Parts: sequence; C-alpha cells; structure tokens
Amino acid sequence: MKKVTDNVYAVGIVDWNVRRFHGNTYITKKGATYNSYLVIDKEPVLIDVVNKGFEEEFIANISEIIDPKEIKHVILNHLEPDHSGAIEYIIKKCPNAKFYATAKLKEGALKYYKLDTEINIVKTGDSIKTGDNTLTFIEVPMIHWPDSMMTYCPEKKLLFSNDAFGQHITSDKIFADEIDRSELLKETKKYYANILWALGPIIQRKLTEILAMNPAIDIIAPSHGMIWRKEPAKIIEQYFEWAQNKTVNKAVIVYETMWGSTEIMARAILNGLSSKNIDVKLFDIASTDFGELAYELLDAKAFVIGSSTHDNEMLPYIAGFLYFLKGLKPKNRIAVTFGSYGWAGGAVKEMNESLKSCGVDVIGQIDAKFKPDSAELKKCFDAGVQLAEKLN
Ligand code: FEO
Repeated sequence: MKKVTDNVYAVGIVDWNVRRFHGNTYITKKGATYNSYLVIDKEPVLIDVVNKGFEEEFIANISEIIDPKEIKHVILNHLEPDHSGAIEYIIKKCPNAKFYATAKLKEGALKYYKLDTEINIVKTGDSIKTGDNTLTFIEVPMIHWPDSMMTYCPEKKLLFSNDAFGQHITSDKIFADEIDRSELLKETKKYYANILWALGPIIQRKLTEILAMNPAIDIIAPSHGMIWRKEPAKIIEQYFEWAQNKTVNKAVIVYETMWGSTEIMARAILNGLSSKNIDVKLFDIASTDFGELAYELLDAKAFVIGSSTHDNEMLPYIAGFLYFLKGLKPKNRIAVTFGSYGWAGGAVKEMNESLKSCGVDVIGQIDAKFKPDSAELKKCFDAGVQLAEKLN
C-alpha cells in the first residue's frame, strides 16, 4: 500500500519491462509507470486508470485499500491508452461508479472502447464534492492530447497533473525526493523533450492560467513517474523555462556515416568547437535512440548534422531523425551541415532543406569528396571554431 498523503493512495502500475513506449519514438530504457490514485472519502474516487495488460494487478492494488465496488467516482484525465487502456475492465469492476472526462475524451473513448456506462462531461471549473474533499477539473488541451485535463483537490492542496511533470522512470518508491536526483532530473527533462517540447506556447499559456487561479499546491501527482511533494513550484518553474525554448551555448553533433569519412569530419568539427570551450556532444545516429537526442537537443543552441550521400540522398536514419525533429518544433536554433560523398553529392542539400522546414537557421555547410583531406579537415575544424564564435 503506497500512501501519498492522508486518505490518498498510489494504486498504479510499475511497468518495469516496457522499452518502446510510443512505438519506436520513445525508448524507455528503464521502463515506465502508469500512475493512478485512490482518494478515500465518503464517496471514494479513482483518478485515472492504467494501460491494458495490467488489469489484474491494478485491481489487486485497489483491493488492498477498498472493495472496488465501493468506488463512487472514476476520473479520466486523459484518453491515451497508457491511461485508459484498462477502462472496460474497470467499468465492470466498479459498477457503482460515475465516470467523468472532457467532451473530447468521451468522443475518443467511444471510438477506442466498448463502454458499458455513461461518461459525464466536465469542463474547467466544474467540481465534485466527495465528502471532505472537492475535486475540481482543469482542462489542459494538448498537454498532452486535446482531451487532457488535470484534477485539483484544494483540501489536500494536491494537483493530479496527468502527463504534465512526469518522467519515464521506474522505482519501488513513489516520491521524487526518494530517488537519485540526477536521474530524476534527467528523466524529467527527457520526458519534456520527447512528449511536450513541441507544445511550449500552449504550456506557457495553460500554466499561466492555472497559476492565476492561485491554487495552493503542496503535492503534484503526475500519471508517470514520481510524485513531487517537496518544492513542487520548482518543477512548474522549470516547465516555464523549457516552454520558452531557452537555450545554452551548447552544440550537439548528430551524424550517420557509411565508410567513416563523415565521422572523421564530425570529429574535426567537434575539435573546433572544443578549442573554444563550447559544451559539445557527438552522437552516431546508428547507435543512439531519438529520445536521447531530443533530451540533448532541448537546450542546445546549435545543431550540427552530418550524413554521407547515398543514391544522391541523405542516409535513412538521419532522414528519419530530421523528420522526428520537425515534429518537436525547435525554435531559435542555428545549424551547420556536413557530409562526404563519392561520385555525386546530395545529402548536405537535403539536410539543409529538412532543417529549414524544422525552422532551424542553417548558417554553414561543408562537404568532402571521398575521404576528407587535410584542407577539408581544416575547413571542418574552422567551421567548428566559427560556430563557437557565433555561439559566444
Ligand atoms: Fe501518458 Fe499522453 O499519455
């Protein structure tokens, strides 16, 4: 039994083994959690359900605290299947419960599932009184889907934030202050970069609206990862920072190489950046997952993207990565492209076009025929130096 605060329990699932969270777009090296919360009151409430496949474990967690038949209200904060997959099962196990969600969630749920119950539509400001507690709904469309909402309990100063403020992390603990802090912060940032980066303007607006309501918040209980019970305002401030697309003077080099020439160029550019003390990281796309790159790119001012030419095109992993990057909608970034070619080029031109379609300002490009010679390597080094000077 995992107590969050008086009469509030964490009853969700730790999925230690999931490795491909959103298909292939988010590799969860240490798994993920599908958090759900039980508020015990005169009329007990379940907040969010869990992913399909965990129904028996979920109901066992609930049954440690209460007979599921006693649950009077089930709040569905988000339709995405990681939070709603077990809904058909829960409807059967909680026959005395009323269900609540946004209109968009109801619309989607009726397409996803066969629902043998009514879903009551709620809007921002609506609330239910469950005895000692009030649960107030706050629509947060696009954090992370159009149907999303949060639920706030003023008596407990507790915000059930659903996808916002989460991490894909696994632990037998439930509080953020109980686990390794550097891992917590890394996974919080990685989660933001992958799930929410593209939605910065909406996040700023919604968080401003929520804070204008002046809610007292002692605890933020997200639907993924750890619960923030110490200084929850700090994670809200951090979200504001990320949502503004603020960057630091950091360069991230991502490349794909066929016979090693493009890799040699990447290292020469890195040396140029390092010679000016720029924080720089280098990744071969063939051995790095996109989610890790999103984490590294979130606060990097400069992207340095390389590919060998293959059939007059950029290589396919880099092409896929640039397609993924476009969806993240990076803002206020500069880039340099590079790559080797054999009998004819093409990759650099294609990468430039892709980066421009991402809204990234390409300020330089270098290519080299076959293997870069010393003059071409100097050009790469100098490009790193010039990029560093631009950053500084
Ligand atoms: Fe955790 Fe948008 O689902």
